[in-house]
Amino acid sequence: MEQKKFRAAIIGCGGISQVHIAALQGMKNVEIAAVCDIREERLKKAVEKTGAKGFADWHEVVALDGIDVVHVCLPHYLHAPVTIEALGLGRNVITEKPMATTADDARAMIAASEKSGAGMLGVIFQNRYISSVQHAKKIIESGELGAFRGMSVSVCWRREGAYYSESGWRGVKATEGAGSLINQSIHTLDLLSYLGGPIEKVRGSVFTGLQEGKIEVEDNAMAVALYEGGQRALIHTSNNNVDDDPVELNIHLEKGALKLFGPKLYAVENEELRLIDAGDNKTVVGKSVWGIGHSAQLEDYYACLAEGRHFWIDGRSAFPALSLVLGIIRSSEEGKWVELEKA
Ligand SMILES: NC(=O)c1ccc[n+]([C@@H]2O[C@H](COP(=O)([O-])OP(=O)(O)OC[C@H]3O[C@@H](n4cnc5c(N)ncnc54)[C@H](O)[C@@H]3O)[C@@H](O)[C@H]2O)c1
Repeated sequence: MEQKKFRAAIIGCGGISQVHIAALQGMKNVEIAAVCDIREERLKKAVEKTGAKGFADWHEVVALDGIDVVHVCLPHYLHAPVTIEALGLGRNVITEKPMATTADDARAMIAASEKSGAGMLGVIFQNRYISSVQHAKKIIESGELGAFRGMSVSVCWRREGAYYSESGWRGVKATEGAGSLINQSIHTLDLLSYLGGPIEKVRGSVFTGLQEGKIEVEDNAMAVALYEGGQRALIHTSNNNVDDDPVELNIHLEKGALKLFGPKLYAVENEELRLIDAGDNKTVVGKSVWGIGHSAQLEDYYACLAEGRHFWIDGRSAFPALSLVLGIIRSSEEGKWVELEKA
């Protein structure tokens, strides 16, 4: 029997859309049928690259006959409205991270995805597909190194200048939602609950450092969080670094410790590092390999559609990372511990 060919629409033709387009062009069972952007030049380029029909109005695209999957590659504040409208029309939706900018919007997306007749919602968290992350999860779950005691993470990169000023939406509270937490470190915050389980409460502090006066959102954050089981997570994120350092994630277990450093997973033994898993690629966290994790996730998402299976990184699975971001900021504003909102 011939394989069904899915018709995809890409909404938002900026940086990350290139990665979605490249991944879809590598898949035999997907055809890019529509592309959409309000910037004429970007739309023109996307049309040339894909041969798809171009649109400036996303409402028109989600309502198009025969569109199976909508890829939401838009500024953060548009993820919820586009997703909810598309799901309501029975389209399947894969949205970029963060799923939304508020917990209420995220809950509305989950509700829209769980209505009968709705399409299937997926949220991009491509780092869950890195082999070393899967390896760490297996070690934690196997119990071979004893019970989970907690984690510490560091996401210290450099973002400034045109990164904020040229986009028109980054650095602006209403459109980006927050700063380094919601944009850069959310992938790693997602791994805190993916690997360690549900987080109950957090005490955090955020501020705008080197971009003070230029952006409305935080570019530095520190926090300590407590898991439901009482274990702890320590969080440090900044966009004010000299350069992008590899992301670090330290996993503390009763009988040993693991360290994810960029894509590589090490066992920490007597202050020495022993390589356990090299990861999919040596620069998985950087832009050059956005595509690798994306291809793996998008192929999995489309396989679920083809086989009628539910996709695992759905709204409920993506919610805790957003809830942690919002909790850290709320804790900083209120100057006290806060309970994380639940989906
Ligand atoms: N998963 C990852 O590793 C990763 C990496 C980078 C970006 N992202 C995410 O991808 C999303 C987009 O980021 P980006 O870097 O591509 O941003 P971008 O600014 O390069 O692209 C966004 C595009 O959306 C267009 N747009 C804005 N409003 C629109 C509207 N109403 N209708 C149609 N088009 C509209 C803009 O003109 C722009 O071309 C964000 O959610 C971001 O966090 C994810």
